[in-house]
Amino acid sequence: MNSNQNPPSPNQNKSLVDEALIEGHEYDGIKELDNPLPAWWLFTFLITIIFSFLYWIHYDLTATGPSTSAELEMELSQLQALHSAATSKEPSVDLQSLVKNSKALEVGQGVFAARCAVCHGAKAEGQIGPNLTDRFWIHGKGTPEDILQVVSKGVLEKGMPSWESMLSATEIQSVSVYVFTLKNSNPPNAKAPDGTEIKE
Ligand code: HEC
Repeated sequence: MNSNQNPPSPNQNKSLVDEALIEGHEYDGIKELDNPLPAWWLFTFLITIIFSFLYWIHYDLTATGPSTSAELEMELSQLQALHSAATSKEPSVDLQSLVKNSKALEVGQGVFAARCAVCHGAKAEGQIGPNLTDRFWIHGKGTPEDILQVVSKGVLEKGMPSWESMLSATEIQSVSVYVFTLKNSNPPNAKAPDGTEIKE
């Protein structure tokens, strides 16, 4: 048996206390010790007080820092931006301004001659595909956006290919605004109208 495991006697306990630290105050037999806090502990404690004070000034008193709800809003809008960047393949382009862009129209004319003329005719007067220069439209109302939609997705069951995997986004935008500018160009040998007349 190891006698060291016995609880220390009161006498032994007394010798653990450094007599020099006793302040001389005694309440009901309980003596008060002047036992200073370790420096590192006190230092950390002071830092947290200073930090909380600065925090209060920055976020509450002067409100120079964002509130938690403002932070949440910022993070949400960042997420939304990321999400829409990831889901939309190409940035949305203002087609109306492209209509006046001669470079885009030039590119569009080139794409049309190479890819579309075979079915729609060199002047878009219509062959296998409908006349694209009249006011009659099968799909949409002939706005640049409507045209871009048909060109991108095609009308596969009617023989109009989907071009989104064959042309770049810029080429599709350019050829769409080019087709838009052909309206009322009255080419010779125009094919009879298909679809509904769109009166402006
Ligand atoms: C293989 C033949 C073919 C080619 C090539 C073709 N198209 Fe078409 N296109 C068609 C046919 C057929 C239609 C009619 C679809 C229908 O009846 O719904 C059509 C319809 C359209 C329409 C809708 C017309 C309307 O009245 O709503 C547009 C716009 C159009 N094509 C543009 C183009 C452009 C631009 C290109 C070149 C990038 C192109 N097409 C290439 C056959 C073709």
